[in-house]
Amino acid sequence: MNIIDAVKDKQVWNSDEVIRTYASVANLQKPEQAILNALRNHLPNWRMLDLGVGGGRTTVHFEPIVYEYHGTDYAERMVEACLQRFPSAGPRTRFFVLDATDMSGIPNQYYDFILFSFNGIDCIGPNDREKVFREVQRVCKPGGYFAFSSHNLLYLPKMYRLKWYRRWRELLYQFYRIAMLTYYNGLPGKYADKKFAVLRDGVEHFSLSIYYIQPEYQVWQLQRLGFRNVRVFSYKTGQEIDHSRLNTLNADAWVYYLCEV
Ligand SMILES: C[S@@+](CC[C@H](N)C(=O)[O-])C[C@H]1O[C@@H](n2cnc3c(N)ncnc32)[C@H](O)[C@@H]1O
Repeated sequence: MNIIDAVKDKQVWNSDEVIRTYASVANLQKPEQAILNALRNHLPNWRMLDLGVGGGRTTVHFEPIVYEYHGTDYAERMVEACLQRFPSAGPRTRFFVLDATDMSGIPNQYYDFILFSFNGIDCIGPNDREKVFREVQRVCKPGGYFAFSSHNLLYLPKMYRLKWYRRWRELLYQFYRIAMLTYYNGLPGKYADKKFAVLRDGVEHFSLSIYYIQPEYQVWQLQRLGFRNVRVFSYKTGQEIDHSRLNTLNADAWVYYLCEV
C-alpha cells in the first residue's frame, strides 16, 4: 500500500460516521463466541491484547473476564471512543494507540491471548501482513493463542450475484454494488487461480482496499510461519471447519482462525 492510501485509510477509520457505527455495536459474532467458549476457563488468568479494537464491540465481552485487557487501535479516535465508552473499566484495563504492524513498545512474550477481530487484519496490505504475524509471535507467550478473521476469496463469486429485494431502492443498490465491484476489481473469474487478492469490496463505500485470502492458503501460511494447531471457524454458523473442507468453503464471507503461538 502506498503512503497516500495508508493515510487515507486511517482517515476513514478516524471519521465521525465510522466511529459512531463501531462504538454502538456490542454483538459478538458466532465464531467469536465459539472461541470465547473454547478459551473461557483460561481467560481469568490471561493478559489479552485486542488489536484493531474499533469502538469496543469485543471489549464488552472480553474485558470483564480477562485478568488484564489492552484495547488498541491505530486510529486515535477509535481509542478515544473506547475511553469514553468504558470510563469505569477495571484497574488492569487500558486503551492505547497501537499499529499492529509495529508493536515495538510492547515487551516480548507479554500476552496470553491476542485477538484481531472482524477482519481488521485485512485493512493491512500484503507486504505488511506478515509483519503482524511476526509481531504477534513476538509479544505473545509461547503456547498463547492468536485469533483473527479474514475475508474469504472463495466467497467472491457470490458477491457478484444479484439478490432479490422487494423494495426498489434496495434492488437499485444491488445493481450499483455489482457495477462498482466490476469497475474496481473486474469479474470474479479473474481471481479463480489466485491465493489472495486486494479488492475494493464496498467496505466504507468502496473507499478501502481489503485483503481476501483462500482459507486453505491462510492455514498453510500460518503453519509455515510456525503457528500451531490452526483451527478454522465458519462466520455463518460458528462451527469449526475440518481442514479437508477448506477448499470448498464458498458460503462464508469471512472465517475465523484460532491458533497457538
Ligand atoms: C472492521 S474494523 C473492526 C473493529 C472492531 N474490531 C470490531 O470488531 O468492531 C477494523 C479496525 O481495525 C483497525 N486497524 C486497521 N489497520 C490497523 C493497524 N495497522 N493496526 C491496528 N489497527 C488497525 C481500524 O482502525 C478499525 O478500527
